[in-house]
Amino acid sequence: MNDNISVINAVDSNKIKGKDKGNVCILAVESSCDETSAAVVSDGKNVLSNVIASQIAIHKEYGGVVPEIASRKHIECINPVIRQALDEAEVTLDDITAVCVTYGPGLVGSLLVGTCAAKAIAYVKNIPLVGVHHIGGHISANYIEHPDLKPPYMCLVVSGGHTNIVEVKDYGVYNIIGRTRDDAAGEAFDKVARTIGLGYPGGPKIDKLAKEGNKDAIAFPRGHIEGAPYDFSFSGIKSAVLNYVNSCNMKNEPYDRADVAASFQEAVIDVLVGRTIMAAKEYGYTKVAMSGGVACNSALREAMKRSCENEGFNLYYPSPVLCTDNAAMIGVAGYHEYMRGVRHGLDLNAVANLSF
Ligand code: KG4
Ligand code: ZN
Repeated sequence: MNDNISVINAVDSNKIKGKDKGNVCILAVESSCDETSAAVVSDGKNVLSNVIASQIAIHKEYGGVVPEIASRKHIECINPVIRQALDEAEVTLDDITAVCVTYGPGLVGSLLVGTCAAKAIAYVKNIPLVGVHHIGGHISANYIEHPDLKPPYMCLVVSGGHTNIVEVKDYGVYNIIGRTRDDAAGEAFDKVARTIGLGYPGGPKIDKLAKEGNKDAIAFPRGHIEGAPYDFSFSGIKSAVLNYVNSCNMKNEPYDRADVAASFQEAVIDVLVGRTIMAAKEYGYTKVAMSGGVACNSALREAMKRSCENEGFNLYYPSPVLCTDNAAMIGVAGYHEYMRGVRHGLDLNAVANLSF
């Protein structure tokens, strides 16, 4: 690993009482985008280690993830990250029951690095291989810190690549209620951040700047799809921000970046919260969860909390480090797949547009 890659050990080892390997000890691998991550998860809930090597510092120079660079960095990081995850969990490959790996959706070159590493381990140790859907992983991140959360419930998945309202009928059994028709919410955050000169990744930067702005300063549109009340569209909001900024620039009028950030964020949050609550009510759920990178957003968390309190719903979301890409969530999702009897052969391939 090189200096530009920051490695987070996302587990507070003081919180783990002994390193209990449990009955089913999963080694999980995630490499779908720009984080190389490996984790050891026992019995689907105890995270013994969760090592995340982030490439953000590298891609930031280019204003977004460069797929070719991402794949090469994954190759550099994958073995040391897996080694570190095993060491921190105080296990060896002989303790591992099964290897779980994200095989889609994501960047194909990035996914291939994780799937190849997982297949090699499964082959050499002659243990089961379980391919995991990345969105199922994000949803399952909620089980790590909330042992009381059990299906069924309604979940909003909001990340850089996905925006879905998902009915979680059982572990690993999903019904998509709503999806984005164009950009994902995180993608809109990243593009708007670039428009107002904040750099990559835009989500956390807009989150911070918005605190200094007025969310009612500019009325950006709330995308609505006729006949599909739970679907999303963020391209209109994104273009409206671009038009606003361009028109100010043309008139040589300064604009307040904090107001733009706050008003844009408010428009996105308004539709995310409104549609998730509406879906929960319509389907008769009183439990609502959120996950994915955008679920780190402080204003979204507050707005969802307020709305859930008003409705008398219980709300669940993971700590920020478990909202963004990490292997622990893949280990939890993979555990439930493993228990349901899902096994993949060594012909498991990376699928960039894996359906959900
Ligand atoms: O889940 P994730 O790590 O990767 C994908 O599966 O896409 O999500 C990354 C996305 C990026 O678009 C990033 O800008 C956004 O999550 N994000 C945020 C925040 N933190 C990360 N968006 C809004 N507010 C945040 N605090
Ligand atoms: Zn993700």
